[in-house]
Amino acid sequence: MLVSAAEMINKAHEGHYAVPQYNINNMEWIVSILKGCEETKSPVILGVSEGAAKYMQGFKNVVAMVTQIHDNMGITVPVALHLDHGSYEGAKACIEAGFTSIMFDGSHFPFEENLAKSKELIELAHSLGKSIECEVGGIGGEEDGVVSAGELADPAECATIANLGVDFLAAGIGNIHGKYPANWAGLSFDQLEKIQASTNGKPLVLHGGSGIPSEQVKKAISMGVSKVNVNTELQLEFAAATRAYVEAGKDQQGKGYDPRKLLKAGSDAIVAKVKAMNTDFFGCAGKA
Ligand code: 13P
Repeated sequence: MLVSAAEMINKAHEGHYAVPQYNINNMEWIVSILKGCEETKSPVILGVSEGAAKYMQGFKNVVAMVTQIHDNMGITVPVALHLDHGSYEGAKACIEAGFTSIMFDGSHFPFEENLAKSKELIELAHSLGKSIECEVGGIGGEEDGVVSAGELADPAECATIANLGVDFLAAGIGNIHGKYPANWAGLSFDQLEKIQASTNGKPLVLHGGSGIPSEQVKKAISMGVSKVNVNTELQLEFAAATRAYVEAGKDQQGKGYDPRKLLKAGSDAIVAKVKAMNTDFFGCAGKA
């Protein structure tokens, strides 16, 4: 059974480790991530963006696929199915479709509107036993080709949203989605400290978890980050392993073109990366 992410995140916050959110894109991602987390005995959050859900034929199909694969694999570690960067409408649709956790990203709205919508969705999610993440301020990243240095959230706004009873909070501390530019300034631990203090120790979420040096990830976790989101890293691993398979001409040997073989190298690379990150970065191995 898929579970809310609240309990696993609270345990991680108390235990000073992080639960990974690995974003899923298709069946291979779901199987590989679950395999890696089962092998390291790690709790996990499967994140789904609205775009990825559309690609996978809708929220209901995502719920059906994840539930069926989870049961068929006999997964024993806690698994939450979470909407990533949800719109107001998307969050409601996911609650309806059977997601166990949602993120409402109202960070692009004027703060009062973000606050009102967050409040409504927190009440709705909690009335149905689902966990919810909200976001304050921008996270940064590449938009229309412009790379940001990473935005910083306002600690006072973070406190206001935290006080609504949100389960975990996404707040910019200089992090960026996608690949980090060579001249990136790094995470702002001063900001993280201020946000953690202003929110009375609310579990925080680090978006853009791909490519941050491990000592910075570990320090952020020790200071109150309890969920780290990873998408790009697994995509790069999958692409590199698939490219190597094709460049070695393996798709031309025997039935190497069969998708079950063609996609296996990339899928195995995802399993290996998930296991390595759970063990080396997030400290969640053996915490299930
Ligand atoms: P990356 O793609 O940079 O790992 O970011 C993932 C993320 O934060 C999803 O919300």
